Amino acid sequence: MKARLKRTGGDTLEFKDVGHRGEPLLVVDDLHTSFRTGRGTVRAVDGVSLTVDEGKTLGVVGESGSGKTVLSRSIMGLLPPRDVIKSGTVRFAGHDLTAMDPVQLRQVWGAELSMIFQDPMTALNPVKRIGVQITESLRLHLGMDRSEATATAIELLRSVGIPSPEQRIRWYPFQLSGGMRQRVMIAIALACSPRLVMADEPTTGLDVTVQAQILDLLAELQRERHMAVILVTHDLGVVATRADDIVVMYAGRIVEQAPTKTLFKETRMPYTQALMDSIPRLSDPSGIRLHAIAGRPPDLIHPPKGCRFAPRCPYAQDKCHQSEPPLRTAGSPDHLFACWFPLVNGVSTAPGMSSGSSVFGVSGGSGTPGESADASTASDQVPPAPWSLADTPIDPDAGLEPS
Ligand SMILES: Nc1ncnc2c1ncn2[C@@H]1O[C@H](COP(=O)(O)OP(=O)(O)O)[C@@H](O)[C@H]1O
Ligand code: SF4
Ligand SMILES: [Mg+2]
Repeated sequence: MKARLKRTGGDTLEFKDVGHRGEPLLVVDDLHTSFRTGRGTVRAVDGVSLTVDEGKTLGVVGESGSGKTVLSRSIMGLLPPRDVIKSGTVRFAGHDLTAMDPVQLRQVWGAELSMIFQDPMTALNPVKRIGVQITESLRLHLGMDRSEATATAIELLRSVGIPSPEQRIRWYPFQLSGGMRQRVMIAIALACSPRLVMADEPTTGLDVTVQAQILDLLAELQRERHMAVILVTHDLGVVATRADDIVVMYAGRIVEQAPTKTLFKETRMPYTQALMDSIPRLSDPSGIRLHAIAGRPPDLIHPPKGCRFAPRCPYAQDKCHQSEPPLRTAGSPDHLFACWFPLVNGVSTAPGMSSGSSVFGVSGGSGTPGESADASTASDQVPPAPWSLADTPIDPDAGLEPS
C-alpha cells in the first residue's frame, strides 16, 4: 500500500493498490487508439490487451510503424486528446488510468509510472541544468526540500554511472554525450522509485557498446528496485535476453505473445520468424547483406482484409486474404498467436509447405519471395549487429531471472 503522492497544492493523493492483489501490476484491455487525419482514420493501436507483473520485463517488438510508440503513450495517458480516438482500459495497481483526470495523471507520472524516451535531447529540457530536472520531480512527488533533493539527485547520478556527479549536476544536457544524456533520462525516470518504467527504444541511435551498457544498467537498477519494465524496440535481439515475456506487434495489433523462451523455441507466427531471421549475428561473415523482411507494413487507414501480414507472407493462402485470424492459443495458455497456418517446429502448416527452412529475407538477396525491400528500408529495420548476441544462436535463457 502506498500513499505518498502529493498534489502540487500540497494535498495528498491517495494511490493505494485498490483491487491490485490477485491481478498483474498493469492490465491493458482491448486498447484502441486512432488518429483523425485528412486522409482518414489511422488505426495505430487496434485492440491490444496485455499484462505486466510486478518486477517483470515485457518486451514489445515490431517493425517501425507497427504502433509501439502509440501503444506506450496510450498506456501512459500521454497522447493529446485532440484528433485522438481512444477506447479500452488501462488498469495500473488496480486503478483505471483512462478514467483519471489530468491532475491525477500528473501525480502518477514519475512517481508510479515513468517513461524513458528514445531521444533524450528532445525529452530533456535544453535550458535547464540536469540537477534541476531531477530535483523538481523529487520535490513535487516526494516533498523533499532543496538540499535533500540535491543530495538525492547526486546519488541518483552516481547510481547511473555519471562521473563526478557533484559537478555534473550543474551541467546542461548539451554538455553531455548521447550515452550520458540517456543515463540522466534513466536517473529522472527512476528518481521517485516508480513501479513501472516504460522504455521506448531507449538506446536506438546510440553506439552499440553504449547501448549494451545502458540496457545492462537499466536491468541492474530494475533488479535492485524490483521495478517492472516495458522495453519497446524494433529489434528482437534486444529483448531476447532481457524480457520475461514478449509481445510482437504488426500493423497495430498483437500477432504473437509468449514467455520469451517459448517465443523463440515454439515460434508460431511467420512474422515473428521473419523478425528473428532479421537479427544479425556476430558469426555472419563480414560484408554480408542484412536480412530484411520483404515488402512494407500496410497502410493503417485501409489495412488489408484478412490477415494483415498476408501481402508479405510466403505461406499466405486464400483464407488468409479473406478472413482475419483471431489471437488464439494452441496448447500452452500463455502463448497466443494470430495465424491460420501457424508454424510447428519451424514448418508452416499451410497446404503444400513441407520445408523446415525459413523462406524469409535470405541474405545476399537470393530466394526472397515477393517484392524485395530496398537497401535503405533494410538498414532502417535492422541496425548494426546487436550487443546482445554473444554467439549465434540466441539463447533466450541467458540473463533471465529464474521464474
Ligand atoms: N499523431 C499522429 N497522427 C497520425 N498518425 C500517427 C500519429 N502518430 C503515429 N501515427 C501513425 O501510427 C502508426 C504507428 O506509429 P508508431 O506507434 O509511432 O510506430 P512505432 O513506434 O512502432 O514505430 C504509424 O502508421 C504512424 O504513422
Ligand atoms: S494467417 Fe496466413 S498470411 Fe497470415 S501469417 Fe498466417 S499463414 Fe501468413
Ligand atoms: Mg516508436
